[in-house]
Amino acid sequence: MADATTTDATTTPNTGNRTTDTPLLSVQHLRKSYGDHEVLTDVSFDVPQGKVVVLLGPSGSGKSTLIRCLNGLETIQSGSIVFDGTNIGQASEKQWRSLRSTIGMVFQSYDLFPNLTVADNIRLGPVKVQKRAKDEVEQQMDTLLKDVQLSDYKNAYPRELSGGQKQRIAIVRALAMNPKLMLFDEVTASLDPEMVREVLELMLRLAKRHMTMIVVTHELEFAKRVADTVLFLENGVILERGSAKDFFTNPKTDRARRFLDSMSPVSAE
Ligand SMILES: Nc1ncnc2c1ncn2[C@@H]1O[C@H](COP(=O)(O)OP(=O)(O)OP(=O)(O)O)[C@@H](O)[C@H]1O
Ligand SMILES: [Mg+2]
Repeated sequence: MADATTTDATTTPNTGNRTTDTPLLSVQHLRKSYGDHEVLTDVSFDVPQGKVVVLLGPSGSGKSTLIRCLNGLETIQSGSIVFDGTNIGQASEKQWRSLRSTIGMVFQSYDLFPNLTVADNIRLGPVKVQKRAKDEVEQQMDTLLKDVQLSDYKNAYPRELSGGQKQRIAIVRALAMNPKLMLFDEVTASLDPEMVREVLELMLRLAKRHMTMIVVTHELEFAKRVADTVLFLENGVILERGSAKDFFTNPKTDRARRFLDSMSPVSAE
């Protein structure tokens, strides 16, 4: 977001192994196949620190596959994924386990542990995986829960929460790991319309606070507001890339125009 003005403890930029002008994430010539089916073809893009990249494209274009490659849930055939100065494209499962502390991911289905309270769901990663001090984690959890107005639900179980509340807790749980990059794959797709807004507003707040994010969404008004860059994917190829303003007001390809038309509200005629 261009008008970002504030920052906080959960999203403070950290340049790690990079110099300040290199992107936090650089994907180059990534190829991903399932058997003979090439799902991602020569995908290259950068995500600068503190910026939001929105990934748009029709169903089956490869958006989820790309997100999954960036979180080590899929292996890639070739290309590089340089994250925070290190090529993680061929990282081992063991390396991914620690990388996932710094690359947070939230999916369409809130994957909270049903047998754990909200607080235990949030504590698990920071305390058990990151071995951080309990007091510090508790303090951060309280701040995060307050931010999403769910402090009263600390001791509730996921089944006692609405879909929108569960999804906000899933985001809080990822943020409690202090990620450098957040990946969101259609996090509002399975929510009732009245719950979509609160989740989108949380993501807008994160963007304002300079969280670096890659967001897959079908919410175009939200995409317009949150995106620094839009990537339009079709058949595993990035067909268009540019600012949200350029993409939405002046798409360059017929395919992107058709996509935007197909997503516009239905008319009465
Ligand atoms: N595990 C898998 N094995 C084989 N093919 C797969 C697998 N996962 C995805 N694909 C194929 O890869 C292509 C891209 O799928 P992907 O889920 O990434 O699309 P998408 O852009 O996220 O679509 P949607 O908008 O519907 O979520 C599709 O043709 C899909 O059938
Ligand atoms: Mg998908």
